[in-house]
Amino acid sequence: MKIAPLVERPDLAAQVAAWGFAEWGHLNPGQTPASRLAELREEMNVDRVPITFVALDDHDGLIGTAALIFDDLEGDPRNPWLASVFVPPAHRKKGIASALVRTVEEAARRLGYSRLYLFTSTAPDLYAGLGWRALEWRDYRGEHIQVMDRKL
Ligand SMILES: CC(C)(COP(=O)(O)OP(=O)(O)OC[C@H]1O[C@@H](n2cnc3c(N)ncnc32)[C@H](O)[C@@H]1OP(=O)(O)O)[C@@H](O)C(=O)NCCC(=O)NCCS
Repeated sequence: MKIAPLVERPDLAAQVAAWGFAEWGHLNPGQTPASRLAELREEMNVDRVPITFVALDDHDGLIGTAALIFDDLEGDPRNPWLASVFVPPAHRKKGIASALVRTVEEAARRLGYSRLYLFTSTAPDLYAGLGWRALEWRDYRGEHIQVMDRKL
């Protein structure tokens, strides 16, 4: 397995956008599959936020994604955020999400940030196991979410 910035594999952008829309489209009112893909194309950076990463198997097939972005939680001034961590069901429980989280942490550190944030409704234990600190719970667009942070 290896992890690369999406800008090195633009052919994978449509699949990454489709995963993200299916998983989190409801959290982004007005978003469509096409607008999510357009936003993703703006995240194809290496040396500045936002950056989307992809995990690739030994045949360079897509097996996961995660992103480093600004302003994930509307109205919240904290930045930057780890977001859009997704591993397809057939590849779960093999440490791929953990490796993606570490990659995003390292990218944020490299770009000079000393703290990183995330919110999750589905996997707080995953991040707690990787050293993230639980902050507040709150309701956000119909979900009960846990905000977490990590000192870099
Ligand atoms: C959550 C998700 C990214 C985990 O991917 P993964 O590659 O299976 O995760 P890892 O293999 O790196 O798991 C690392 C650890 O976290 C645990 N873990 C994984 N998913 C978890 C979850 N949803 N809840 C609690 N613990 C979880 C694993 O059991 C593992 O623990 P271990 O090291 O003690 O064995 C994946 O299930 C997914 O894409 N889910 C749908 C999208 C989603 O919920 N993303 C997170 C939004 S913030």
